[in-house]
Amino acid sequence: MERKPDFSWQDSPVFVGNLAETLGPWLKGQSYSQVLVLTDTHTHVHCLPRLQNLLPYPFHTIQITAGEQHKNLETCTLIWQQMLLHKLDRKSLLINLGGGVIGDMGGFCAATWKRGIDFIQVPTTLLSMTDAAIGGKTGIDFQGIKNTIGVFQAPAAVFADPAFLHTLSDRELKSGLAEVLKHGFIGDPKLLDSFANLHPAALRTLPWNQLLTQSIAVKVRVVTEDPKEKGLRMLLNYGHSIGHAIESYFLGTDSPLTHGEAIAIGMICETPPPHQTRVAQILEPFFPKITIRKEAMPTLWQLMLQDKKNSSGAVRLAIPDELPYTMQVLSITEQDLSEMLLQYTNASY
Ligand code: GLY
Repeated sequence: MERKPDFSWQDSPVFVGNLAETLGPWLKGQSYSQVLVLTDTHTHVHCLPRLQNLLPYPFHTIQITAGEQHKNLETCTLIWQQMLLHKLDRKSLLINLGGGVIGDMGGFCAATWKRGIDFIQVPTTLLSMTDAAIGGKTGIDFQGIKNTIGVFQAPAAVFADPAFLHTLSDRELKSGLAEVLKHGFIGDPKLLDSFANLHPAALRTLPWNQLLTQSIAVKVRVVTEDPKEKGLRMLLNYGHSIGHAIESYFLGTDSPLTHGEAIAIGMICETPPPHQTRVAQILEPFFPKITIRKEAMPTLWQLMLQDKKNSSGAVRLAIPDELPYTMQVLSITEQDLSEMLLQYTNASY
């Protein structure tokens, strides 16, 4: 029997739990003409076996190379070519089995195929379970700028199965943790309790089913109130204005950072005192300080000028206010950015 969803957003159910109890029964209740599963080189090997026995339809797979550098138009062309090859009609379903890259790009390819076919998100990373798969953002990077081309399109359903967390490295798990903690800072302080004074090595022992449900609840509440990011949804970008710039900067070096490592530093830097100490206390055990050299500052500023939240040439940060689900928007200058980075990173001046 089909299980009741944990959440519902824009008529699309969100399930947290074992795929056999969520996706399997849900699919049996649908009548798709055919199913195509989008995987990458990792999820094809490590995650597809958990999914494939649950599919009541004959299905084909498309496998793409893993990595953010492949989230582009060339890979979309490969996906659309496979859709053409398999004669995907408008009653077909695309299953996106992977992290944020697969979910965003697969969602975009499905949303544009024959003006839109159904897709479901089966996120396999903590980051995509708690954030990327929820809220209908789809898209790709363009000319080196993240998520420049895309559309808002709600998936037909989302299935977050914490069992996939075992397929992640410690570093990938921590990358997603930054988004979970972000949800704690912006909407649910109780969520943070499980992580205060926790040794990073104990992360895998946490009750992830329950923590994911708490974290997703924050995301669902924000995107329900503001689906197209006209206001409150900007708060989900807490830490990302500075974090994305740091992430892009380090991508071009010998020691790239994960998304979570960069946005954790972003959250600490963006938070004004007196709250900064508390934010740093929670994040620091999982995300050690990094070194940023003074010479990097103009590049970081240029990267921040690309941020979608900016308007009229001012760089804007959305950060949590005193109460849950409230925010303040700060405009900052290049000098402010230097000072903010100086406060937290091992900036060498
Ligand atoms: N990841 C931010 C958002 O969904 O708006």
